[in-house]
Amino acid sequence: MRILSIETSCDDTGVAILEVTKKGDFKVLSNVVSSQTTLGKKYGGVFPAMAKREHQKNLVPTLVKALKEAKLLNSKAGNKIPDFKNILEREPELEKNLVGFLKKYVNPEVDLIAVTNGPGLEPCLWVGVNFAKALSYFWNIPVVPVNHIESHILVNLLENPKVKFPSIALVVSGGHTQIILVKRIGQYKVLGETRDDAAGECFDKCAKILGLGYPGGPIISKLAGKAGATSDVAPLPRPMIGTKDYDFSFSGLKTAVLYADRKITKKTAQYKKEMASEVQQAIIDVLIKKTIKAVKDFKAKSLILGGGVSANKELRKQFKEALSTSGQVEVFVPTPNLSTDNGLMTAITGFYHLPRRQAGKKNTVAWKNISADGNLRIGK
Ligand code: KG4
Ligand code: ZN
Repeated sequence: MRILSIETSCDDTGVAILEVTKKGDFKVLSNVVSSQTTLGKKYGGVFPAMAKREHQKNLVPTLVKALKEAKLLNSKAGNKIPDFKNILEREPELEKNLVGFLKKYVNPEVDLIAVTNGPGLEPCLWVGVNFAKALSYFWNIPVVPVNHIESHILVNLLENPKVKFPSIALVVSGGHTQIILVKRIGQYKVLGETRDDAAGECFDKCAKILGLGYPGGPIISKLAGKAGATSDVAPLPRPMIGTKDYDFSFSGLKTAVLYADRKITKKTAQYKKEMASEVQQAIIDVLIKKTIKAVKDFKAKSLILGGGVSANKELRKQFKEALSTSGQVEVFVPTPNLSTDNGLMTAITGFYHLPRRQAGKKNTVAWKNISADGNLRIGK
């Protein structure tokens, strides 16, 4: 079967096509991400209304590129376009683009649409959800709604379908920081999460204070690598590192960077490197301490990392080092381009959520019943 996926939870527009063979092997036919980072860079962050507009513009070109790469794009003139029954009434630009697309191309040979329906920026999620509904209606194939946090976890199964459970997952992104007990695929319990800023948000805000640009995570990571062994920067706090729960708090870290920064009259390149390194290490220290506590407390057989921050090289390295001594716990990390938002993570999660007996059947999930939820939770 072939799954076409749509991901618009934040500022990346992702469309992927995943083929699952009869034997259950995964074959990635395409995974196209149109990133809005140039806009983010210009305005120093993500703004939902602006991001929504960009998704409307990007979705059809991204879909065309994904189908083309998968060799599933075939043109046919004169297709009849039905009335979309107001599915896209809030996305007029998208409707116009979609009508142009549908007039031009034959229905592709895909069996299922998977779409991220939360959590994330609600106006952005709705664009993707409504787009999926319109395609489902026109192509007459079912849609599966996908939880974005779960997809940050399950993307790891693409290369490692035999992860052992129970597992502890740490999802660290621009919007979320959660430690999740994964009893098995589909059974989750959030053990702890951030009480204020997410880890990625902390990277982004600290980078802004230091005048480094957006998104902050990759920039801080790069600078930190050049800092050298000694540092003149005073150590930053490690918020909540010693508490017995699995919760986090990162907003104090950003405030500490702000105060330290105010005291500095001349922000030299060396100061920025050393501060970047200290910010990165403070975040890593807290994430590792709390996550490994969860791994031990729940006797997990594996650790799964996911989300944009899991692309951080130092974080990946230090997690592997921290768990290598036990030798019992296998660590799974997605390749860096699958750590950040993409469509493939949505496709694989859609696959795991489709009851096997329904695979390939038409309209198993009614498009009318799918809605976006910015605060969608995972597990209990
Ligand atoms: O998962 P993601 O693409 O989007 C959300 O769902 O939020 O994560 C984006 C976040 C941003 O805050 C970005 O700064 C951070 O991931 N990030 C990184 C790195 N690459 C991206 N943080 C630290 N180190 C990186 N290499
Ligand atoms: Zn994400």
